[in-house]
Amino acid sequence: MKTSSSSTVAASAATLAKVTGSVAAAGVVAGAATAAYAHFYELNNFKVRHETLPVLPAGTPDFTILHISDMHMIPGQTKKHNFMHSLAAIQPDLVINTGDNLSHMGALPSLVDALDPLFDFPGVYVPGSNCYFAPELKNPLRYFKGPSKRGPEEEPQALPTQKMHDAFNARGWIDLINRYETLSINGLRLEFSGVDDPHIGYDEHPGFAPSATQITDEPSVRLGVAHAPYLRTLNAFVDDGAQAIFAGHTHGGQVCLPGGRALVSNCDIEPSRAKGVSLQNGVPVQISAGLGTSRYAAVRLFCPPEAIVVTLTASDK
Ligand SMILES: [Fe+2]
Repeated sequence: MKTSSSSTVAASAATLAKVTGSVAAAGVVAGAATAAYAHFYELNNFKVRHETLPVLPAGTPDFTILHISDMHMIPGQTKKHNFMHSLAAIQPDLVINTGDNLSHMGALPSLVDALDPLFDFPGVYVPGSNCYFAPELKNPLRYFKGPSKRGPEEEPQALPTQKMHDAFNARGWIDLINRYETLSINGLRLEFSGVDDPHIGYDEHPGFAPSATQITDEPSVRLGVAHAPYLRTLNAFVDDGAQAIFAGHTHGGQVCLPGGRALVSNCDIEPSRAKGVSLQNGVPVQISAGLGTSRYAAVRLFCPPEAIVVTLTASDK
C-alpha cells in the first residue's frame, strides 16, 4: 500500500513527466518551425543594403558600386535569379563580385543567366573556394567550430572555373586574381589590388603601383578586393595603401542571433564584423553577407541574403 507522501511524489513525477514531454514536444515543433522558416523563407528574403564610404578626393562626384558575393548558384533558383536581374535597375557605375559563385557542378549556365543584365556594367571579380571546388556533404555544425578546412582524406570535385571566368571576361568583366589593375569610369580612376582566395591559401598580394607612375590628373581611389577577409589579407591591403576593402565569404554568420548578431565568421575576424562596414586600422572594410549558402547548409536565420549598394563619396561632402 502506498503512503500519502509516496502518492504525492508519484503524482508530481507524473506531472513533471507530462510537462517535460509537453516542453520537449513544443521544442521540437518550435525547432521544426524555425528550420522551415530558415530554409523556405529567409533563404530567399533578398535585401539590398546601402552603405556610404567617404573615400574620394574632395569635390569628386559620387560613384556607385554594386557589391555581390557568395551566390553559391544551383540550377533552378528562380527567386535568386529574379532578384539578381532586378539589381540592374540600380544602374551601378561598377559591379564588384567577391566570389563563391557556384554550389553545383551544373550551375554555370544558371549563374551566367542570373548575371546577364549585370554584365552590361563594368565589373571586376575575384574567386572564392566555391569557384574552384564543389561543396561536399558534411556535418553543418562544422561551420560553428571555426574556419572550415578540407580534411586530407577529402578529394575535391573541380568546378568549371576557367569556363566561368571565360564567360565573365567575354562580357568585359576583369579578373583581379593576384593582380593590380586600373579602370577609368565616369571620370574616376579606380586602382584595384585583388587577391585569389585567402581561405585556401591562394592569395598573393600584388600591391598598388607607386603613385609616381600615375599619368593622369583624374581623381582616384585605391580598392582592395578579396573573397575571404582574413586579418592578414586586410592588413596587407591597408599596408599597401588601400582606401576601402571589399570581401565576402562570411555569409554574415549565416545562422545568427536575433538582431543579426553573428556567432562565427568562418575566418579569423571577429564575428561582429561578419557583415557590414567595419574599420581595419582606419580603412573601411565592406563585407557582404552573400546571396546564397552551400547547397548542403541551405538555411539562414536573422541574416537575410543581400546585395550591397556602396556609394563612394567625396571626403569633404
Ligand atoms: Fe560562400
